[in-house]
Amino acid sequence: MMQEPLVITIDGPAGAGKSTVAQMLAARLGLMYVDSGATYRAAALKVLEAGIDPNDTVAVGRVIGATNVQVTTGEGEPHVLVNGDDVTALLRTPEVTLAAAQVSRLPEVRVKLIELQRAFARDRGVVMEGRDIGTVVFPQAQLKIFLKADMEERARRRLKQDSRDSSKATLERTAYEIGRRDQLDAERKISPLMPAPDAVEIDSTYLLADQVVEQILELARNRQLVCDEGKKAL
Ligand code: DC
Repeated sequence: MMQEPLVITIDGPAGAGKSTVAQMLAARLGLMYVDSGATYRAAALKVLEAGIDPNDTVAVGRVIGATNVQVTTGEGEPHVLVNGDDVTALLRTPEVTLAAAQVSRLPEVRVKLIELQRAFARDRGVVMEGRDIGTVVFPQAQLKIFLKADMEERARRRLKQDSRDSSKATLERTAYEIGRRDQLDAERKISPLMPAPDAVEIDSTYLLADQVVEQILELARNRQLVCDEGKKAL
């Protein structure tokens, strides 16, 4: 029987360090890195461009049905294409961030994007980050991580990622926005943000990304998913 490709899932709230850790881990193990949030952001962008309310289930369903989302997986940073256009640079605005949290509550959107996300691991190993990757997208994943961090630290990291100024006011505003999104993510009926029962929780508040990656590699070694040096997926 063919061995299943190695799937490592990293779920957790915004700003817990998922992207950095998942990218570093994928590079270390020669696996593909997939940011599932980018697929929800791409769908949200399309909905905003169409000028419809992200909470209007029927209209959003119609737009999403006619939208093709792709993530390029070649060298360097991944790029997101919507109906063939590269929209990578447009996905991190506050408007798209809020709309992504709204459209991701709709089953029509999730069903379509989950199918896309599963396809990434059809014939190769992946490290995929998101909110429901270990619970819904890949319940059979060989290693599941739930990454958390204190709110203030998460706000600081998010600002750095989005290259906004880091004044106290902006930090407070960002913490507020993150709190609001956490609530939307955790309260939604389908695929709410929560750790899978078999996920390993790591609190990254006082850890460098390197240290988190080392902890995950150690877990992978212990489960004999990677070779002893932790350099390559088996
Ligand atoms: O990780 P992110 O901030 O780029 O995610 C954008 C939004 O997409 C976020 O509000 C939650 C949603 N999302 C989701 O519902 N399920 C995922 N697997 C990933 C993201």
